[in-house]
Order: sequence, then structure tokens, then C-alpha cells
Amino acid sequence: MSNEPYPKMVTSLPGPAAKAVLAKDDRYISPSYTRGYPLVIDRGRDVVVTDVDGNRFLDFTSGIAVCNTGHAHPEVVKAIIDQAEKFLHMSGTDFYYAAQSELAEKLARISPGERDRRVFYSNSGAESIEAALKLVRYHTRRTRVISFFGSFHGRTMGALSLSASKSIHEKGFAPMVPGITHVPYAYCYRCPYHLTYPQCNTSCVDWIREDLFKRALPPEEVAAIFVEPIQGEGGYIVPPKSFHQKLKELCDDYGILYVADEIQTGMGRTGKMFACDHFGIDPDIFTIAKGIASGMPLGAMLARHDIMDWVPGSHASTFGGNPISCRAALVTIDLLTGGLVKNAAVTGAYFKEELVKMAGTHRLIGDVRGVGLMVAIELVTDREKKTKAVKERNRVVELAFRKGLLLLGCGENSVRFIPALTVSRKDIGIALSILDEVLTEVEG
Ligand SMILES: Cc1ncc(COP(=O)(O)O)c(C=O)c1O
Repeated sequence: MSNEPYPKMVTSLPGPAAKAVLAKDDRYISPSYTRGYPLVIDRGRDVVVTDVDGNRFLDFTSGIAVCNTGHAHPEVVKAIIDQAEKFLHMSGTDFYYAAQSELAEKLARISPGERDRRVFYSNSGAESIEAALKLVRYHTRRTRVISFFGSFHGRTMGALSLSASKSIHEKGFAPMVPGITHVPYAYCYRCPYHLTYPQCNTSCVDWIREDLFKRALPPEEVAAIFVEPIQGEGGYIVPPKSFHQKLKELCDDYGILYVADEIQTGMGRTGKMFACDHFGIDPDIFTIAKGIASGMPLGAMLARHDIMDWVPGSHASTFGGNPISCRAALVTIDLLTGGLVKNAAVTGAYFKEELVKMAGTHRLIGDVRGVGLMVAIELVTDREKKTKAVKERNRVVELAFRKGLLLLGCGENSVRFIPALTVSRKDIGIALSILDEVLTEVEG
């Protein structure tokens, strides 16, 4: 934890040093990135980020749900340095080193449900999804796959084809990988069938069985259903438990593999190690990345032992499972099991309660949702009609930055709160008071 007070602004934003970086970035960096505001980080410690001009921010983004142990956790940094002094790389696809198998054993032990799993390592979320997509085809010898509207699985061609959160992601890149069918997710605040839970009996899953499978998509050709336990980029949408349970039953009835994308929800973010644990789901395959190594690039795809039956040469990655990332992940898991997952559950529940109270005084807040420290508010200009407050959401994120609170949007009109799992009630108090000020200003 920083001893310096935070948040604290010492220049206007962006400050002079930040402006110089922005100018060079503007000239040389791909314009495809989606920066919402001009934060130029110099260093980060726990939940505090300091920019190149010395402005200190309270970070409720964790580098997009990655730095779950806080920025530059000293034990993670030490593990990185210790490994770097031994060797940086040897390619685990052609040689052996202990960090890979030690981490695989640990990941299997903390897996939701069945623990008899094998691990394939990658460098990112999208690559973990690509690996899963290849494995489900390989293992089942079936060609088709189902995923959900609102989902985000990454930007490589397979992951992009599974995704359906924003059409801009696909615009100009067609054709997508064939054989993927998108179906509605249980977004109960805006039910795509205009039904109400629980009276609906989660009939969005029945629709797959009764309509899709009978009229268009032969279930015996479906290799897998890819699903985020809680949709992330799509708007932090928490479905009812029965949604996942019925979906799993559907998979089991037709020999379809249930693939849980835990890339954003995993590694303690939701107050349990994996979000599947909230839903009582034992996924056949699941994918992880983001929070797995506290900021070092690493992804993993875990499958039941009997499912991961591909042969040498069928899939590999030069950098996947890099020794430094694996060592960082081993320490990360110890920190998570040593108290941070619990803090996410307890502090997250407190935070959500406070946001619900705030909804009583701020008309822009249409919905408060989330689990653990994966929390969001959906903003609307009219609560009855649920009119999406898109401009207002963007303004809230921008103004919060100016006042020293780093936030990110998700979906079209939601704001997400994903601080490090080390976050304290005091930090949550600071974030709430800035949010209160910002909402008051935007509501006019
Ligand atoms: C659920 C989910 N899956 C996959 C990805 C893609 O991960 P990456 O950006 O590491 O490729 C993301 C990234 O936001 C994600 O949230």
C-alpha cells in the first residue's frame, strides 16, 4: 500500500509528461486500441497508480481484471526476479521445466468440479479460447459450436467468431470461422424474450433444445457450448443459477462439451476461485488468463484428462507457459488462497450493498449487479423504459478519471468496478464518494 495520499491530482490531465507520450503514441501505435481517457502510467503499487506527471489514482480497473493481487505485489515481483536470474525461456513445448508441471498440478487442484485435468498453456485469453475450440473439434470430431449473444472471447479469428458483444469487433473482418451459432444469454434485466425470472423457468435454455435443435442445428453435430459464467465485456451480466445448470444438462444429454470461459471471472475475482463454483458447474473444459499471473502474460486451457486426447504436434506455442509467468502464477495462487479470494467475497458484498443504496439517490442507476469484486452498474436515462444512458456512462468514466478514480465501461451503458482483490473498505469508501460526486454532476 502506498504511504502517499491518494487520489491526488498535481497537474491538469493529461499533464505535460503524459502529453509527450500521447503524441508519440498517436504517431506510432495502432489506432485500433480503445483508450477511454489519457492515463499514462509510470508505476503502480497495490490499488494505486501513479502517472508520469506524479498524479495518483485509485485503480478500480486492475489493468482490466488482471492485477488481482494488486499492482506489483512484492512476492510476485520477487518470484519474477528469482526466475529471471535462472533462465528466461526454454520453450515448454520442446523441453521440460518444473514451473510448468507444478503450476498445472496446482491449477488442477483449484479447478471447479472434477480435478482430474490436464493443462495446455498459452499467452493470452484469446489463445486459450483458440486451444479450446481446436480441442473440442478434435476430441468430438463434431464441427459445430454454440456461443452467446453478448459474449466476448477474444479477437483472434476463432475467438472473434465465438464473440458477439459488439459488431464493430467483426466489421471488416468477415468471413468468420464457420459452424458457430449464437443464442440469447440469460440477461434478465433485459430479457431477450421479454419474460421475467423466475416465472420464465429459464426457458432461454429450453429454446435451444425445443426450437434450435429441432429446426436448425442438429445437436449430434455440436461439439461444444462456449459460455462465460458471468458475461464480462457484454455488461457484467449475472445469469440465474438454473441457466447454467440447465445448459449443462442439455450438454450432457447430447454429448456436447460445456466450455466455461473463466478468463475474466476466474482467479478469485468473484469471491470464489472460479465463477463456476457459484453455479455448481463442473465444466468439461475451462479457460483462464487475465488474473492468473498478476500481470505476466499467461493463459491456460484445462480439460478433463479423457478429453485432452490430442497427439504430439497437434497444438503448441513457443512462449505459452513461459517460466517467469508460471512462477508468478504459482505465487499468485498462494496469495489468492491465502486470503484474497475471501476478501473479494466479503468486500465485494459490502461494495454491492453500498451501490444498491446509492441507486436510491441516483436516478441514472438502473441496475446494480455482480458477484464478489466483479461488480457493475447499468445506467439508464429512464428506469421504466430502461433507456440506455450511453453518453452519460462515458461521461461518468471520464469525470471519475479527472477526480482520480480509474474506471472502465462494459456493455453499451454499464460501468464496471474491478479493483484488486486486496482492496479495503476505506478504498471502497473513496471510490463511492467520487462516484457519488460524478453521478450528481452527470445527472445535472
Ligand atoms: C471472458 C473473456 N474471454 C476472452 C478474453 C480475451 O482475452 P485476451 O484479451 O487476453 O486475448 C477476454 C478479454 O477481455 C475476456 O474477458
